[in-house]
Amino acid sequence: MEQTDVLIIGSGLAALTTALHLADTLRVTILTKKSLQDSSSAWAQGGIAAVLADDDTMEAHVRDTLIAGAGLCNEAAVRYVVEHGTAAVQWLVEMGVPFTLDISHKTGFHLTREGGHSARRIIHAADATGRAVQRTLCEKIRQHPNISLLEHHIAIDLITGDKLGYGDSACYGCYALDNVSGQVKTFAAGNTVLATGGASKVYLYTTNPDVATGDGVAMAWRAGCRVANMEFVQFHPTCLYHPQAKSYLISEAVRGEGGLLKLPDGTRFMPDYDERAELAPRDVVALAIDAEMKKRGLDCVFLDISHQPAEFIVSHFPNIYQRCINLGIDITREPIPVVPAAHYTCGGVITDLSARTDLDRLYAVGEVTCTGLHGANRLASNSLLECMVFARAAARDILVKPAIAYTKIPEWDESRVIDTDEEIVLAHNWDELRRFMWDYVGIVRTDKRLQRAARRIALLADEISEYYQNFRVSNDLIELRNLVTTADLIVRCATLRHESRGLHMSRDYPQTDAVAVDTILRRT
Ligand code: FAD
Ligand code: SIN
Repeated sequence: MEQTDVLIIGSGLAALTTALHLADTLRVTILTKKSLQDSSSAWAQGGIAAVLADDDTMEAHVRDTLIAGAGLCNEAAVRYVVEHGTAAVQWLVEMGVPFTLDISHKTGFHLTREGGHSARRIIHAADATGRAVQRTLCEKIRQHPNISLLEHHIAIDLITGDKLGYGDSACYGCYALDNVSGQVKTFAAGNTVLATGGASKVYLYTTNPDVATGDGVAMAWRAGCRVANMEFVQFHPTCLYHPQAKSYLISEAVRGEGGLLKLPDGTRFMPDYDERAELAPRDVVALAIDAEMKKRGLDCVFLDISHQPAEFIVSHFPNIYQRCINLGIDITREPIPVVPAAHYTCGGVITDLSARTDLDRLYAVGEVTCTGLHGANRLASNSLLECMVFARAAARDILVKPAIAYTKIPEWDESRVIDTDEEIVLAHNWDELRRFMWDYVGIVRTDKRLQRAARRIALLADEISEYYQNFRVSNDLIELRNLVTTADLIVRCATLRHESRGLHMSRDYPQTDAVAVDTILRRT
């Protein structure tokens, strides 16, 4: 059994920020299922929203977030994040993140604009902000003597007092599969922090990396935490549409810097949908694109920034430019083919302002959570901000608690399972799940489609549960089990919401109710 003061599951921005705020005082272990860099955080493009400029205000950022959230944000959480945002960004600057500079601006940084923001408030590192942030923090993590980093370790399940028969609701650590040795290890921890990111891999088309399989939400749910608002899946309007481009995002900052959405004949359509046109929040833009594609039978629409000077485009979007050029698309001269794709999980494990979950000694930070910040729709670039603000809050809470003694916990029991000889079943189930989630639980929903999805999920859940009981765990089995649970949580939440709000659009319930209510699920 491995022991640590704080066990952090994941290695995205939420995890790394938590670790670096704790490690001068406590021993920290980071478990991550691939390598340190594998995360949505490392893929983030546009930047981090925070009130940095003199002509911007906390009130304006709060207001923009509440408007995007369509009446469902928890205003206290919104204020907390916005008010702590500036200090969180300042910390990144002190860590040495190479944000894009603008000496003509009073802050010294270039601030870009994105949909739904009433001001330029997005600090960024060209069009690869996440990579710059992660690189800087990963270097600190690797050098820190109090941080033990275990890559290629996938957490399987949390260990709770309930499961151990202690009769309490505390979390004592987790079981994790070491993907290199194939052994399941037991980790005992004073406190455990879930920082496992989102679940967009539950959809066939997504902007997310392969690791985004909803593991944290599923583990917390099985451990007895409440989960909320899983129906609010954010579809990013502009994912590159090209047969050789898997999951490549065209940043919202392209629209922020003047990019226009067009039909194949060059006609703009966003002004017909919203007075903010291309700068409307992304639910509005994604829905408009989906409607145009369905109405006209299109495979994609086009995002055109070629009217801006070539130099401007290449210097602001060097990575997008290069990626497109490699595929034969010169964005300085021609429009980019784009489609919406699953991008962000607004719902998740319910946490408070100190990132505490329903279980003692279990915290959750980042995309895995439902903090109340995003409500029914996340405002662009508020996610990296949320990761940092709540990571710092979790660390603060852990540091003021009295030290917690470890508890001896039983090792993983493999006595009743055998090696699988049917790995192919997993691949088939995985494909089937992601396809029907895209077809039946996508941008526009109906009761009938949700029922179809629910029936298929029940079948898959039975099959996977049987498989899990009989065969030795593998990375694919763990992820598939979590994806099916996540899909079930999304469909259950979507079925319970009898209105259309923010990212949840239902043909059967097109109205928005006067009172906004969270969809909260509890295990019975
Ligand atoms: P992640 O960064 O996803 O990290 C999760 C970590 O947990 C990973 O290391 C993963 O391997 C690990 N993990 C998962 N399950 C397990 C397990 N069972 N065991 C062990 N480890 C596990 N937001 C913004 O605010 N601004 C942007 O510009 C922006 N651009 C984006 C661009 C793209 C292409 C994408 C996909 C997202 C973007 N987002 C952006 C959203 C934002 O990047 C994410 O919401 C945020 O990075 C989530 O951070 P996180 O730390 O919660 O999770
Ligand atoms: C983007 O660059 O468009 C992504 C921003 C975000 O998801 O917040």
